[in-house]
Amino acid sequence: MRRQYNKGLCAVGASMPPVSGRDQGSTALLILLMYVCHPIRIRNPVKYFSYLANMFSRLFGRRNKEDSKYDDLPAPATANWGALGADMHSHFLPGIDDGAKNIDDSLLLLRTMADMGYKTIITTPHVMIDYYPNTTQTIQTALLAAQNVLKENNIDIQLRAAAEYYIDDYFTQLIEKEPLLTIHKNEVLVEFSMLYEPPMLGQALFSMQTNGYKPIIAHPERYMFFHRDLSKYSELKDRGCLLQLNMLSIAGYYGQNIKNVAEQLLAKGLYDYCGSDAHHEKHLAVLRAMACSKDYHRITGYPFLNSRLCL
Ligand SMILES: [Fe+2]
Repeated sequence: MRRQYNKGLCAVGASMPPVSGRDQGSTALLILLMYVCHPIRIRNPVKYFSYLANMFSRLFGRRNKEDSKYDDLPAPATANWGALGADMHSHFLPGIDDGAKNIDDSLLLLRTMADMGYKTIITTPHVMIDYYPNTTQTIQTALLAAQNVLKENNIDIQLRAAAEYYIDDYFTQLIEKEPLLTIHKNEVLVEFSMLYEPPMLGQALFSMQTNGYKPIIAHPERYMFFHRDLSKYSELKDRGCLLQLNMLSIAGYYGQNIKNVAEQLLAKGLYDYCGSDAHHEKHLAVLRAMACSKDYHRITGYPFLNSRLCL
């Protein structure tokens, strides 16, 4: 669908007449007017024009090389993500967050992941004090129940648990108080509000680092307030954070804007891990469909660190 859309734009561009000096002047005036009238104008003019360039390239630009190099590869016939080895972001433990509702649900979701070729699952229940006040204890208890049901049903998949910590005041205190659950070595998965940039974000990330942790930012492409200034993502990387792609973002599950940003971050090589962030069967159905689409090559052709999580 996206390809047809781009082809359409190219066709329009090819038939356009050369731009005259007067047209160039009008365009400059339009950009200046947009700058003056923009309701959320970025204060730094350089950043603002980089934002504009980014917007125009998304509207009229050619597809990047990263996209086109997979054009000739056929879509796989079977839904198998075995090449990734491990999934490191999901909500499969029974009854402790907005993922699996009970142990039967956990079994169904984990069986499907095993059928899709995953060898290791590091599942990551929410730790969000106002909604899912999980602790290491509640997570370990639910993990044990899920591991037992896998054993009883002879499902060949390694299941471990970490957490997806929500950055807020509670979390900034938790960092100091007790050991955090890690994805790999000292790496900790964190998320924050998708509506606004939390005021304590910088302080929380710094506090994690001074306490010996490396933050993995969950689904950075979903934070809309970063979209108008993509350099924010490079800043997070420069500060020592790892970035985790939600595979569903590439599938377009969260909408076209998020898909576009995910594609740009992928093309820039800014991601470190990819995760399903699966909560329920509908998410897994999208993952299965993706595994039989061209997106399969875009995910498996990228040097994600997931395979190092396999036991
Ligand atoms: Fe999540």
